[in-house]
Amino acid sequence: MAVLKVAKLGNPVLRQVAKQVDLKELSDQQGELQSFIDDMIDTMREEGGVGLAAPQVNRSLQIVVLEYENNERYPGESSIPVTALINPVLSDYSEEKDSGWESCLSLIDFRGLVRRSRSVTLNAYDREGNKIEKRSTGFEAVVLQHEIDHLNGKVFLDRMEDLTQLAYQEEFEEFWLKKDPVL
Ligand code: NI
Repeated sequence: MAVLKVAKLGNPVLRQVAKQVDLKELSDQQGELQSFIDDMIDTMREEGGVGLAAPQVNRSLQIVVLEYENNERYPGESSIPVTALINPVLSDYSEEKDSGWESCLSLIDFRGLVRRSRSVTLNAYDREGNKIEKRSTGFEAVVLQHEIDHLNGKVFLDRMEDLTQLAYQEEFEEFWLKKDPVL
């Protein structure tokens, strides 16, 4: 178990397209890749994130982890059990979109309003190498879009349509949170 250092905006690793994982490396339960996934989960929990992508801990690999239960940064959203996704790909982005205030462990002090598709189809592998295909909607769909963007060198700022809706966390709470129930 280890908490890894989080790469912050400006670190080139966040702007690279991450490498595909060789699924054979998942089969060794005591192997380096499985312990790296555990470390990603520890890091996400320690830092209070809802998701974390491997490039955010300085490994340019196609792995994301998600978990959500009553995170104070995103109150009231439905829960997501702890999940590791290997080589995840999204498709069939719905035309219906919703706006939500996102933040990111790599831009920890910022919140920005981002429009994302309400539902997406996920194809990935779990940490045992089993295939996953599912339609995802709502908050989970937003988290998936945010995290999988990291695997393609994108951060939420790149998805913002209006940079006047970018705020520091403290100003977000003071000026935007009460006015905007979108969160
Ligand atoms: Ni992020």
